[in-house]
Amino acid sequence: MKSSLAINGGKKIISDKLAKSIPSWPPIYPDTAEKLKDVYLHPKWSFNGPNEQLFSKKFAKYHTAEYGIFMANGTVTLECALHALGVGKGDEVIVPALTWIATAMAVIYVGATPVFVDIEEDTLCLDPEKIKKAITPKTKALIPVHLYGSMADMEKIMAIAKKHNLYVIEDCAHAHGGVWNGKGVGSIGHVGSFSFQESKTLSSGEGGICLTNDPVLKEKIFRIKHIGYAPNTKQGEASYSPQEGLICHNYRGTEFQAVVLLGGLKRLKAQTKKREQNATLIRKLLKNTPGIKVQSRGRLADIQGYYMLTFILDTKKLKEGITRKEIMEALSAEGFGTGLTYGPVYKHALWNIPKSKYRIESNEVAEDLCSNRAICMSQSKLLAGSKYIKAACDAVNKVMKEYCK
Ligand SMILES: Cc1ncc(COP(=O)(O)O)c(C=O)c1O
Repeated sequence: MKSSLAINGGKKIISDKLAKSIPSWPPIYPDTAEKLKDVYLHPKWSFNGPNEQLFSKKFAKYHTAEYGIFMANGTVTLECALHALGVGKGDEVIVPALTWIATAMAVIYVGATPVFVDIEEDTLCLDPEKIKKAITPKTKALIPVHLYGSMADMEKIMAIAKKHNLYVIEDCAHAHGGVWNGKGVGSIGHVGSFSFQESKTLSSGEGGICLTNDPVLKEKIFRIKHIGYAPNTKQGEASYSPQEGLICHNYRGTEFQAVVLLGGLKRLKAQTKKREQNATLIRKLLKNTPGIKVQSRGRLADIQGYYMLTFILDTKKLKEGITRKEIMEALSAEGFGTGLTYGPVYKHALWNIPKSKYRIESNEVAEDLCSNRAICMSQSKLLAGSKYIKAACDAVNKVMKEYCK
């Protein structure tokens, strides 16, 4: 029988017109444009200005945390969190084998050793059982990442941390707006770290924030990112020094970023709901599709944030010679463009750290998923209407039925 796949000359499922219904990202809001003009015309552009303070407070409250410390990006937030927790030379920090390199680079920045630990196949987040095996007397902290469209199992991770007296920094760069067991993501561990880089679900081009419930940590993180100034000190009026030896940086964000984020924050709840609805619809429509599984949402998630939705191929079910590449090309021909996951950190082109400075404890699942099996759908597609989502699922169904045994 002749194939009806678009890649073989058949009619494609998603028309160009329907593809154009995907909202562009980052979004443009006219009310934010007005506020940006206001900041520009009334110069107080940086240095813990009123918009930064308001945003930090609102974002922390949204995620049920006491304090928010706003910064230049979601890499320095991780570095400041580690630094404030006293993590440094001689310490080991457990990070997932699959995440953006920043999660591990932050560990390098403070002079500690990243220890890569494997992920769970269903959530793609740190595997608590494998964390247990990786703990040594040198382990000082864990950085679970709430990756793509799932949340790490914070219940198990916090229990392990408590038992072994470890700090937990939640990397929430993908999880804005998520709620886990009644608590906002980022408020469960000792510190939560978020990125507001352009592609993130709350964005100001660049930006980041640390959340914490601990007032001592809050002051320390604030001083580290603000060249030593205590919170609420005016420019040029530093009255008392940070503790001796606390190396502080200028990792400040600006009022422009904060204004853009305040505009985005107003829309975050509705957008998170929409992504969650569409992800639920996708799971339903692909439930019986051969050879593919959708990433599970966080097991205890009340609300799941989505930076991507990941599809996991069962390569054993594919016809001889069919690979992830062929599937992605066939989906693209149907009008449904997808992407790859980051890949294991230590294999990323930008990871240039000598082998002596990190340790790979376990990586089987991460290696397998990244090299052959995982495909990602971006968060902006999860904001499209149900017509697009149904058509995208039709495309997946069509391709997988053709390419499975
Ligand atoms: C999981 C994760 N952690 C940290 C970061 C770093 O954030 P930023 O790019 O704002 O430095 C990112 C950014 O992509 C990320 O995906």
